[in-house]
Amino acid sequence: MPELIPQLEKLLAEAQKTLALADEAALSREETRLLGRKGEVNRILAAVPGLPPVERARVGEAANVVKTKLAAEFSRRRAALKNEFASELTEREWIDVTEPGTASPQGSVHPTNAAIEEIVGHFERIGFRRARYGEAEWDHYAFGALNMPQEHPARDEWETFFLEAPAHPMLGRPVLTPHTSNAQIREFERRKPPIRMVSVGKTYRRQSDVSHIPMFHQFEGLMVDEGIALTHLRGVLEYFFRNYFGPARTYRFRPFHFMFTEPSFEIDISCGLCKGAGGICRLCKAGWLELGGAGMVHPNVLRAGGVDPLRYSGFAFGWGVERTWMMRAGMQIPDIRMIYGNDLRFLSQFSV
Ligand code: DAH
Repeated sequence: MPELIPQLEKLLAEAQKTLALADEAALSREETRLLGRKGEVNRILAAVPGLPPVERARVGEAANVVKTKLAAEFSRRRAALKNEFASELTEREWIDVTEPGTASPQGSVHPTNAAIEEIVGHFERIGFRRARYGEAEWDHYAFGALNMPQEHPARDEWETFFLEAPAHPMLGRPVLTPHTSNAQIREFERRKPPIRMVSVGKTYRRQSDVSHIPMFHQFEGLMVDEGIALTHLRGVLEYFFRNYFGPARTYRFRPFHFMFTEPSFEIDISCGLCKGAGGICRLCKAGWLELGGAGMVHPNVLRAGGVDPLRYSGFAFGWGVERTWMMRAGMQIPDIRMIYGNDLRFLSQFSV
């Protein structure tokens, strides 16, 4: 059957054409069809024994040659597919290392913490040491030792939270610090004059409305040494105002009354919004903003702290952090509780 040889050649020629574009699945199919046990080539080989002897060797040899060539075609195409896949992979997974990255959102310091750091920093630069005392405190430190006897009505000015815990036999009931002035007595117990302290703490009062929050912060300053006078208080505060509020703002001492200082003052700073003009300013009263209290430490307070008032004198001041911060920016936050509302749209405006 001489036509077997052209059949073999045809098989090879066709395979060369179809394999050029075959994918992995088509390759397997074709391989089975041509080279499988019951495939085309074997079908031809099976016919060989029936051929006249002269033909047998020729056809058998041709069949084996085609078989080898086909196998070569298959492995060539397989290699090509593998290469294509590898280069596609490189294309797909290509990285431009020079491309700018995607920045992930960055957090920032809460405005209250930023204000604390800045305020404390100014005092530290003139030798004040930062202190921190507890938020749960005995009556003695929060009131008694600050010249506020048990039944004195001045105590009612602090909307104090009392803790439901047993009273101390000597120090009285436990409270949440309603102000940071307890730091004065605590500091006296820790060290002897000369003292220059700035203490920051959380303060708690039973109040919550657009301009009050139940938890806010105060910073308490205390300077005690021989010969400390009101002029020192003035000098230190003037230094602080110039650095924190800038040179354009002025201040005034307004006589006031606190049990723990004598004389006592409220300190006002000129309004940053109307520039002290007053009139119809929405932020201030007649050009001034109330910052907080200050005064010369009362001799009874010194005595309660074990400091001899005949030898030492000192001044103290205590203001709200949030308030001081808002006064610098000339801001009127419609609801002060927003500062602790954890709303990033609000907070990120102040990110530094
Ligand atoms: N502790 C007072 C308050 O919270 C503020 C204050 C007034 C602190 C006068 C002082 C001071 O150190 O001398 O209302």
